[in-house]
Formats: sequence, C-alpha cells, structure tokens
Amino acid sequence: MSNIEKEVAQRRTFAIISHPDAGKTTITERLLLMGKAIEVAGTVKSRKSDRHATSDWMEMEKQRGISITTSVMQFPYRDHMINLLDTPGHEDFSEDTYRTLTAVDSALMVLDGGKGVEPRTIALMDVCRLRDTPIVSFINKMDRDIRDPIELLDEIEEVLNIKAAPITWPIGCYRDFKGVYHLKEDYILVYASGHGHERTETRIIQNLDSDEAREHIGDEYERFVDQLELVQGACHEFDQDEFLAGKLTPVFFGTALGNFGVDHVLDSIVDWAPSPLPRTANERVVEPTEESFSGFVFKIQANMDPRHRDRIAFMRVCSGKYEKNMKMRHARIGKDIRIADALTFFSSEREQLEEAYAGDIIGLHNHGTIQIGDTFTDGENISFTGIPHFAPELFRRVRLKDPLKSKQLRQGLRELAEEGATQVFFPERNNDIILGAVGVLQFDVVASRLKEEYRVECAYEPINVWSARWIESSDKKKLEEFSNKAVENLAVDGGGHLTYLAPTRVNLSLTEERWPEISFNATREHH
Ligand code: G4P
Repeated sequence: MSNIEKEVAQRRTFAIISHPDAGKTTITERLLLMGKAIEVAGTVKSRKSDRHATSDWMEMEKQRGISITTSVMQFPYRDHMINLLDTPGHEDFSEDTYRTLTAVDSALMVLDGGKGVEPRTIALMDVCRLRDTPIVSFINKMDRDIRDPIELLDEIEEVLNIKAAPITWPIGCYRDFKGVYHLKEDYILVYASGHGHERTETRIIQNLDSDEAREHIGDEYERFVDQLELVQGACHEFDQDEFLAGKLTPVFFGTALGNFGVDHVLDSIVDWAPSPLPRTANERVVEPTEESFSGFVFKIQANMDPRHRDRIAFMRVCSGKYEKNMKMRHARIGKDIRIADALTFFSSEREQLEEAYAGDIIGLHNHGTIQIGDTFTDGENISFTGIPHFAPELFRRVRLKDPLKSKQLRQGLRELAEEGATQVFFPERNNDIILGAVGVLQFDVVASRLKEEYRVECAYEPINVWSARWIESSDKKKLEEFSNKAVENLAVDGGGHLTYLAPTRVNLSLTEERWPEISFNATREHH
C-alpha cells in the first residue's frame, strides 16, 4: 500500500444533519470528547450560546470569528482520522449548509426522539440524496419521554424514503431508560445518568438471555424480549451495500447529553462509512489515491477570526497530497499560485497545516479570485462537478437608498452571488432586483458587505416568490413559447441562467404539469 492509499483508507469525512434543537451541538461535543479533541464538554456549547441573531455586522463578525473554529473539526479516533464538517443550523443556516453536504462521504442524522423527522431533516436529506450519501441515524434524548421507537423507524422509512435498520434497541425511556441492547452483538450497554461531561467506562451485560440481563431489565424483561422479536421480524437487517448506496440507514438510540450511545455512532462511521470516494470532474473521474493533487471549493466564509480579517475558501482535497508551499493551478482562470498558508482545523484550533490528503478540508485565504465550485490541481485542467446552486427558499426585493448607485449595486450583487453569499435574479419584465437565500441571515450579510465593500446602502422589501427553478429544455420552440407565456414570472440569475420564480407551491406544480417538455430544476451546477 502506498502512503497515500494508507492515509486515504484511514479517513472518514462526514457532517451532521438535524433539525435545530435535536442535539447536533451536544453530540458534536461528545464526538470531540471521544476524539480527545477537547477534555471537558461545554467548550462548543458555550460558544454557541454566546451567539445570537443580530444584524449588526461588526457584532456578527466577532461572533463568527469564534464559531469558525468549529466549522471543520479534525480528530483521531481508533487509528482513523475523522473530519467532521459543521453544517450551520439555527440563524446562520445558509446555502453553505447545503453545499457542505456535497463535500462529505457520509452523514449522521440526529433526530429528537420526542419529535422524530422534522422539516429541516427532510430538506437536508434531500440534499444528501443528490449524491446518495450513506446516512447513519441517531435517535437522541432517550432520557426523555420519547415516541414509540417502532413508530419513529416507520416515520424515517416513510417520510425520508430510506430503509431503517435498528442496530441497537432502547430499553425503556425517560426515568425508566435502562440502556440499549445491541441487536447484532447481543449485549446490553447499561445507562447510568450523570456522566455526560466526561469519558466514562460503561457497564456491559453480555447476553440478553442471562440472569444479569433479567435482573437489570426487571419486570419489563418479558415484554422487552417480545418487542425485540417483533422488531427483528419486522425491521430491515443492516446491509452494507444498501447503506453505501444511500438506501438503508443503520439506527442507534441514545442520549447525547448523557454521552450514551454516541460511541456506537462513531464506531459505525469508522467501520461502515466509506473512506474518501472518487469524485467526478467534467473531464474524468478522479480517484482519491492518485498521486497528483486536486480539490474543490465548497464554501467561502466571509468573516473569520477578527485577528485575521480575511475570507477563507474551504476546499475539500480530492486526491494526492497537499504540502505547505506547494504550487496549485486555479483551473478556472488557468493560473498557478503558491499556497504557503493553508489552514486546518485540527482539534478545534486554527493551525498551520503541513499536509493533507483526500477527505481533508483546507482553508485558503481568498482575496476575491476564488468562487464556490472552483477546482485546484497540480497542473491538470479539470473541473469538478456536483457542487450546485440550490433553489433559494427566501426572497427579498432590493431597494436602493441612493438611486445613482444602481451600477455599483448590480456589480456588487453579481460578485457576491459568484462568491456564493446570495443568489440574485433580474426579472425579465421590470427593473427589480431580487435576492434569494436559503437562510435569512444571508440577507443581512449581503447588506453589510454591500455597504462595506461597495459603498452601497440598500434595504429589503418582501416579495411574493415561493421558490425558484432553473429552466431547461431540448425543445427550443417549446422553450420560446414558454418564455413568452410565463414572462411575468421569468428572471435571469447572476450567472445569466433563465429562472422561473414561482409565487406559490401550487403554481409551480401546475406549471410543471402544463409544460412537460420543460425541466424545472431545483439545483444548478456552477460554471
Ligand atoms: P442543536 O445543536 O441541534 O440545536 O441542539 P443542541 O445540542 O443545542 O441541543 C438542544 C437542546 O437539547 C439543549 O438544551 C440540549 O442540552 C438538549 N439535549 C441535547 N441532547 C439531549 C439529550 O440527550 N437529552 C436531553 N434531555 N436533552 C438533550 P437547551 O436547554 O436548549 O440548552 P442548554 O441550556 O442545555 O444549553
């Protein structure tokens, strides 16, 4: 095995998908604890609670300076190197959250056991499905009164359209939560409350059919055994191939707060989730173990650590090896640049990076030349695909405070759209400018950056747009007919692509039905 092959085989790169409050921050912290990246829980958490929504740019910048250190976390676990990519949740939810999912090889879905599948879970799963990303599931908050576990598995299968294979099964919940039974390995992991903040030794009872197990479960023993029989008869069995194809998810139960069951999840990622996968470029498929370096940019963060006032482009390495001071070809503009000071995020602190392999994320200082989707290589002219624009879910009309600044506004918005901070649409019928975003904070970011970087002040107005779809058709005549008929709802986006702005969900489905020759795409590839 070559050194590169060895490094690649050891890597696992994943992200957590969950609805706000399901427990992502808590579980992230437990994972870092397990990777010994932090010593005491509370580190990540306190950062989060320092943060609150604000439209004051400087404040936001300061706060993001702190949150950035958790945006990529690398830590060792069981002779493997784990890259955990943060997917911004609450108020800083944005298109970056979606794009981050294009840079991972697997995902961990965290559900609140009391709530089950929630809207944000569904949206994030849809993004994972674009690449058939393998999903591990964790049903959290077993120390609370949760819903019937069988019902939760049914919901995963029905709403998310993925087979659910329980690997562990909970013994009771809330005050009667006694642990989880490992269906494949026939042991009980015994729950003891109050150890959430440290790494602790957990008690294990081998064999469900043992006196110790009977004693531990108590009066509920017979009922539990009956339920297990039902579960084993009715549920899917874990199948590695189906998992890798994104068609089946192994399901674990536990409590992130109690640091219980989280190790099962991390073990499953090491044991079952794929090491860095090949990536498709327009020209060819790139294997992670190739000697020559390549990577793509999936996220640009405008506001970093206040001590380093710069923008950072986050690149996923796809092949070869990054070394300090290496020369990289910026494939889109065909220029070679020397990268002396890429960043890594090892153990939650920014550090000078020495080397990186496929699956790792590096941060490049960006002075405006790097866009989302850009490919870097060590000389080959290729461009990776699969880092799309996502149809925005929120829209605002831009109102300029000084009408004479219209040119600067358009230029600023085009550039910010290229960078991926927002999407911009110019309607065919009037001179409005419409911004589209996935998270509401994106609008604030754009307004303050327009002011700071382009000296343009603007305000926003609500606008009656529900969603956007990129229009395509091989039937040119039909496309023209449609363009004439639907002109009221058509716009051109920042990249010059024709877009349909649907006022309502119903309008969109009726229009799709009426125009079967036209494709209404919810994503668009860069470039
Ligand atoms: P998020 O990042 O997905 O938004 O969720 P986060 O981890 O912040 O968790 C949301 C709330 O749920 C937090 O409570 C957290 O303590 C709690 N929580 C997470 N995992 C568990 C669990 O296994 N059991 C129980 N009972 N609660 C859990 P909070 O009150 O909003 O915050 P805090 O005051 O505890 O910081």
